[in-house]
Amino acid sequence: MRHLISPLDLSLDETNQLLDLASRIIDDPEAFAHKCEGKQLATLFFEPSTRTRLSFESAMLSLGGKVLGFSSASSSSASKGETVADTIRVVSSYVDIIAMRHPNDGAPVVAADHSAVPIINAGDGGHHHPTQTLTDLLTIRRLKGKLDHLTIGFCGDLKYGRTVHSLIKAMCRYEGTRFVLISPDELKVPDYVRDDLTATGYAFQEVKSLEDAMGQLDVLYMTRIQKERFADEAEYLRLKDSYILDGAKMALGKKDMIVLHPLPRVNEIATEVDDDPRAAYFQQVWFGKRVRMALILKLLGLESGFGPGEKPALPQPRHDLKCDNPRCISLAEPTLPQTFFPTEEPGVFRCKYCDHLHKL
Ligand code: NCD
Repeated sequence: MRHLISPLDLSLDETNQLLDLASRIIDDPEAFAHKCEGKQLATLFFEPSTRTRLSFESAMLSLGGKVLGFSSASSSSASKGETVADTIRVVSSYVDIIAMRHPNDGAPVVAADHSAVPIINAGDGGHHHPTQTLTDLLTIRRLKGKLDHLTIGFCGDLKYGRTVHSLIKAMCRYEGTRFVLISPDELKVPDYVRDDLTATGYAFQEVKSLEDAMGQLDVLYMTRIQKERFADEAEYLRLKDSYILDGAKMALGKKDMIVLHPLPRVNEIATEVDDDPRAAYFQQVWFGKRVRMALILKLLGLESGFGPGEKPALPQPRHDLKCDNPRCISLAEPTLPQTFFPTEEPGVFRCKYCDHLHKL
């Protein structure tokens, strides 16, 4: 059984095959319209969502399957104090596959440990959002014709933006990617993402000015400042208008650049940009449903492709350290054992759930 918790749970080959399948679905949706008959998908959303949840549900319905679930923690037993592990044990005895979103980083790792069916991470806290990444990859591949040798600029909230963390990880596997990370100092990517970039040896710059970066980008990935993840509201208010993409800034971009945004947009892209042919964020939503159809088929084993998966031999964990990421599921649910794995760097350990680094 396979899960999709982090974008690297799929090999590069599997990812590319998944994108191929999504393209086959786009070309001939009728051929897939009954593939999931008799199958059920649960969407467990402990955190609000419009696109992702409806996209999963619409994907399953278009495959002939059925859907059930909840759309907020308050309408589930989480509000009574039930753990993620128990909710998953229960729901996985009803359905064939589960897509879940949770406000705590690492919650889907716990779910996968306790599930009898495939788990899809539909966003965990400020950590990962691998199906948005598949959406982004499909959009880039369809609109730019390739995924390698591209300069991609990430702009906005790179600290809390889970879609950014996941897409950076995924793009590190395509040859010749150049990253331009555009953010205020306070919203730079977390250490565990920067360390991954450094380890892969990919070219990346961290800059503050969107205007200065514009001219070199093939893909501009705009993001919302993630209000709900700030501990200090004053800091959010100070940073919320850090970047606003408008017509004047678009004029500095290449003619064949594309602009992506996972949505929802607040004010970081002026509506005047919507009519620019380079604005691809609504097309991106359309691709999202098709790639989720492909993912459901693959995880349910209804299309060939996903093998047993690579299970890297894990080093001996340590249980005597405490995660200092306030959003980690291991702090929200104190019955979970603190678990850290050593990294390549001596004295640096990585939390099993949220990836945050603990330096001794
Ligand atoms: C994103 C998310 O939830 O992380 N939205 C989405 O799933 N398309 C981005 C965001 O909320 O800013």
